[in-house]
Amino acid sequence: MAKFRLPTIPSEQITPESIYQQRRHFMRLGTAALLAPMLPLGNANAATQDLARLSAVPGPFKTDEPMTDREAVTHYNNFYEFGTGKADPARNAHTLEPRPWSVTVAGACAKPGTYELDDLLKGRTLEERVYRLRCVEGWSMVIPWIGFPLSDLLRRFEPTGNAKFVMLTTLYDPKQMPGQRRNVLPWPYVEGLRMDEAMHPLTILAVGLYGHVLPNQNGAPLRLVVPWKYGFKSIKSIVRIDFVEKQPATTWNQSAPREYGFYANVNPNVDHPRWSQRRERRIGDLFRRETLLFNGYGEWVADLYSDLDLKRNF
Ligand code: MTE
Repeated sequence: MAKFRLPTIPSEQITPESIYQQRRHFMRLGTAALLAPMLPLGNANAATQDLARLSAVPGPFKTDEPMTDREAVTHYNNFYEFGTGKADPARNAHTLEPRPWSVTVAGACAKPGTYELDDLLKGRTLEERVYRLRCVEGWSMVIPWIGFPLSDLLRRFEPTGNAKFVMLTTLYDPKQMPGQRRNVLPWPYVEGLRMDEAMHPLTILAVGLYGHVLPNQNGAPLRLVVPWKYGFKSIKSIVRIDFVEKQPATTWNQSAPREYGFYANVNPNVDHPRWSQRRERRIGDLFRRETLLFNGYGEWVADLYSDLDLKRNF
């Protein structure tokens, strides 16, 4: 496990390893929440992965499946702003500066503006939620995210009745994100959710994983996690939130509309035009397993789509 080097974070706000391990033990036992003080979420040293520890309470959703090796979670990534190879983001994302960071909020809401991320995070209880992430490419991981419901943040901006969708945008800065100099995708990366999906209790904004601040390659300092959708919906390094009336044009849907739908719900019955989605390889496993409808979260989300033909709205 990495040692800490934490120039920006006061030592009393760092959870020592032993307490962290104890906490994980309690979490496994299902003991009640252990509330810990909130941390400023500076990204201590992304290049060396010596990242600040975060304290979190066990969240309401988890899985008993074994978690994916942390090394794989942080070194097998998709983040085209840092290259298109799986190893590129871990190698290249040290140029991203996750502090200072602000998020601009615009569109159909009573409180638009530009907010410092640390102000948005102040006083917020962080939860650890172990979610499966299923990538459209056919692999999957089980990741202990640290974050909070997206709905908690969106409510603060008081969306109006015209807010039917929420559109999220990644930083555009080719100096920090050199992959944006290449035309592999339309930049900046944009994603969107229907308002009811965005407000769903499963949908979180993550600021950490495996007990640490998010490494840059995983979308520091703030990224979306929508566990019942293919991984490309889980947009990284978010700088902008727009409340909009019309379904937003999203990056992958724009670049290859036949292959990547707006909904992108994990669905073994709807193949990608170039490959089947029936099975998936959990990173670390030898054999492939069946892919589950809604990535196994149907109990909580299927009713969002009761009026929708999932084959047409893939
Ligand atoms: N967000 C941005 N800004 N750029 C990207 O290239 N890739 C997406 C998603 N978010 C991507 C992104 C895809 S395809 C996947 S599978 C997940 O991030 C991967 O997240 P991870 O690397 O943390 O596992």
